[in-house]
Amino acid sequence: MLQGTPERVRDYYDGHPISEAHVLAALAGQGLDGSLTADDLFEFDQDHYGGLAAVDILARRAGVGAASRVLDVCAGLGGPARFLASRRGSSVVALELHPGRVAGAARLNRLVKQTRVTVVRADATTLPFGEGAFDACLSQEALLHIADKPAVLGECHRVLGHGGRLAFTDWIAFSSLADRERQRLWEWMAATTLQTLEGYRKLLGRAGFVAIEAEDLSGEWRAIVRKRLELHRALRPRREMRFGHQHYVDYEQLHAFFVGLIEAGKLGGGRFTATRS
Ligand SMILES: C[S@@+](CC[C@H](N)C(=O)[O-])C[C@H]1O[C@@H](n2cnc3c(N)ncnc32)[C@H](O)[C@@H]1O
Repeated sequence: MLQGTPERVRDYYDGHPISEAHVLAALAGQGLDGSLTADDLFEFDQDHYGGLAAVDILARRAGVGAASRVLDVCAGLGGPARFLASRRGSSVVALELHPGRVAGAARLNRLVKQTRVTVVRADATTLPFGEGAFDACLSQEALLHIADKPAVLGECHRVLGHGGRLAFTDWIAFSSLADRERQRLWEWMAATTLQTLEGYRKLLGRAGFVAIEAEDLSGEWRAIVRKRLELHRALRPRREMRFGHQHYVDYEQLHAFFVGLIEAGKLGGGRFTATRS
């Protein structure tokens, strides 16, 4: 079993290109300052595949509305949480472990005067909330970082009220993913204990969820990651100038490895929805 996940996750996100500084620089680059709204940030503050449409699908699957108490598990810079608060009027707790992202999410909330989102720093495997505190738990592209999947799913079950909904997307493994490839995914992007679609179904059932649905998003994600790799290559001169030659090359090699796994049908994406009984 892979140990030390929180430390590895912190290192990975310390060097991640999506950061508060990146969002602020992108806004400045567009000449945006002064009175900003959450909408101005959406192009830069979402750290998952499929953009706002993907958040919207999860929200629909989880029945999120203005009266919903929503927990965004592993919320990053709070982009999806601000989207739910501003478009659906929900009250959202954005739970995140990385200290820089927690501070960044809170500052971005203040920047756009988003008062319906509260940022909480905690580990998703030990949620600091009481039983039944939420109507919906959402999460995007984050459980891959958590070794103890039963713990995080069990915690989501505990903090949801009866009939509450869990909806999340995550990386999934297929049986042909080799151990050495799993190891490289761990070393590169702190991905651990990747599940199959069926594996997640079983874990959700064991955590006490019912009405479990699992959808394979691999085809959709394959096209997105291929496009990102091509964009990285097309922007080579600019990226080499900004990050240095070696950083460009390392990222290109790792990303190509990652895209190769997806195109070979070894890795993919899944969307899961379930109800707390
Ligand atoms: C790919 S980002 C997704 C962020 C956000 N869901 C979004 O879509 O913009 C994954 C996030 O999970 C957070 N994370 C990883 N392990 C965590 C844990 N055990 N508890 C809370 N957050 C965690 C990381 O720090 C990172 O911000």
